[in-house]
Amino acid sequence: MVVRVSHALLALAALVPAVAAHSSQTCRIVQHDFPAGTNKNDPRAEAVKQAYVREWNQYYKYAFPRDDLLPLTHSGTNDLFGWGATVVDGLDTAIVMGLTDIVEEQLKHIYSVDFTKSAYIVDFFDINIRYIGGLLSSYDLLKSGKFPNPYDEHLVEALLSQAKSLATAISPVFDTVTGLPASQMNLTTGEVIQSTSTINGTQYNSTNTAQAGTMILEYYRLSDLTGDESFREHAKKAENFLINPSPPPIYPGLVGTEVNTDTGKFITFDAGWEAGVDSFIEYLIKTYQYDHSDEYAQQMRDFWVVTAESTIKNIALNPYHRPDLTFLSQSDTNGNLMWSMDDYACFAGGNLLLGGARLGRSDILDLGVKATDGCHWLFNTTLTGLNPSTWAWYNANDTAYDSQYNDNATYRAEAAKNGYFIEDPSYRDYPEPIESIFYAYRITGDTRWQDYNWKIFQALDTERSKSVPYAEISNVDEPGGGELINYVASFYFAEVLKYLYLSFTETDVISLDEFVFNTECHPLRIKEPCGGFT
Ligand SMILES: *[C@@H]1O[C@H](CO)[C@@H](O)[C@H](O)[C@H]1NC(C)=O
Ligand SMILES: *[C@@H]1O[C@H](CO)[C@@H](O)[C@H](O)[C@H]1NC(C)=O
Ligand SMILES: *[C@@H]1O[C@H](CO)[C@@H](O)[C@H](O)[C@H]1NC(C)=O
Ligand SMILES: *[C@@H]1O[C@H](CO)[C@@H](O)[C@H](O)[C@H]1NC(C)=O
Ligand SMILES: *[C@@H]1O[C@H](CO)[C@@H](O)[C@H](O)[C@H]1NC(C)=O
Ligand SMILES: *[C@@H]1O[C@H](CO)[C@@H](O)[C@H](O)[C@H]1NC(C)=O
Repeated sequence: MVVRVSHALLALAALVPAVAAHSSQTCRIVQHDFPAGTNKNDPRAEAVKQAYVREWNQYYKYAFPRDDLLPLTHSGTNDLFGWGATVVDGLDTAIVMGLTDIVEEQLKHIYSVDFTKSAYIVDFFDINIRYIGGLLSSYDLLKSGKFPNPYDEHLVEALLSQAKSLATAISPVFDTVTGLPASQMNLTTGEVIQSTSTINGTQYNSTNTAQAGTMILEYYRLSDLTGDESFREHAKKAENFLINPSPPPIYPGLVGTEVNTDTGKFITFDAGWEAGVDSFIEYLIKTYQYDHSDEYAQQMRDFWVVTAESTIKNIALNPYHRPDLTFLSQSDTNGNLMWSMDDYACFAGGNLLLGGARLGRSDILDLGVKATDGCHWLFNTTLTGLNPSTWAWYNANDTAYDSQYNDNATYRAEAAKNGYFIEDPSYRDYPEPIESIFYAYRITGDTRWQDYNWKIFQALDTERSKSVPYAEISNVDEPGGGELINYVASFYFAEVLKYLYLSFTETDVISLDEFVFNTECHPLRIKEPCGGFT
């Protein structure tokens, strides 16, 4: 397919990266053309690596091989099915950092696990993004020849065979009336467990849109690596209901968060990029980035363009008297704008930048920069320098969605100062704003983004996180973060530390033109890179 580049786009030539010399016009390089040896920052990268080593040692001492570290009680918990979630989620970060002793431990553990059995009810979504994504990514990285690989071949090959056996064990979730996956399963009995939602007094078997639309990138990769097409077919069948939404969403391309698994029809109409829908939108463009010659991935790309255009038109909004600040609003289940946002939606900046660069769309790139700046502003305005879980603002008429905020001096003062007010002040190891800042750096080449991520790293790497193993905090606007929360998420190892580290390495380490990140920051090797493999 040939795309004509408009004059408006040419004006933005500095932002829109070059089209690969030997490929069609639709194949565009997305990373900024960084001259070799420029921009890396070894001391910063080393500091992030040392944070990984320190936290891994704490996990290993107190929690291994349980799923997650409980830092305050010096113990661990099996909240992700008992297979060592932190090991699998953290492995590819250790590979990228070249921590060969730690990687060796992790590979041996993974080799020993039976992923077809669990003492717990398992969730398909977490199995896919953390375990299958983490296994495939580590396999891809070690096979790429770009990272140290002194390990026994059988340990490396086990990454792929374990991913396949896990995906096979969980495959009964697709045996629903429509093929939309059920959310949970008892692996011992094979019994599939449906989630339900009650809407207008009626109960439905349902799944959220993110659960139904987030396996497609991993499943494409799994089919391509194993030659077993059943994974790709399952994922496409589910995705079909999402990219042909019925009834149509209130704002084009901005689908609701809940789908009826018996009929494939949407049962809520809450537009936005928030939790529940987030990674469905994310994978629309990433599946195309993974395999741009796949016809189905092209349909997903087209849906993403509608989503991005509709976001610009309908939900990218400025708070009252703050034209400098852009947030992406969510809406309630009936489509009314709420002038509020959650942390999860902060991945949008990076996703808009990736797709905008890939498709040569200056309007989408422009929103990507604004949305990333909006989420970074949160870090700049809290006492701890970390972002809250949810926040809201007064709309163009100086009104909040929830009327309790309209006459409250506390919220009014906060909004007058910062442009927004905090609803949920906790910080739960969130990666999304850091992720978007990483994309903004790699795509625009502007080093201010590196400085932002360094500042965020410093806000995380405080005395607090050295005296007790790193813990989540209850209030980003209280000294020291308020009360510490007894938990370290596996995605702190997978996402937070990896996006930070990659902000300071050479930019050809996990180039965005050779790898595409799953929603848990696990990089998968692009099937057909625009610039070829280096
Ligand atoms: C799986 O089902 C079996 C049989 O009903 C039951 O004994 C077991 O407790 C279930 N597993 C979990 C984790 O609930
Ligand atoms: C959900 O699915 C189960 C199994 O297919 C079915 O028995 C049940 O009636 C469904 N529940 C609703 C509320 O439709
Ligand atoms: C629930 O009721 C609202 C308001 O009448 C309506 O807009 C919406 O479509 C209904 N949802 C479903 C799933 O029927
Ligand atoms: C906020 O941003 C300004 C300008 O970039 C910077 O000087 C300042 O240190 C930042 N403050 C925080 C808390 O990040
Ligand atoms: C602001 O108020 C006007 C007049 O009531 C209304 O037409 C408009 O839709 C409102 N704007 C917002 C963002 O609510
Ligand atoms: C305003 O909100 C704060 C924080 O939730 C609350 O403590 C306070 O009572 C509220 N004030 C009024 C007048 O409602």
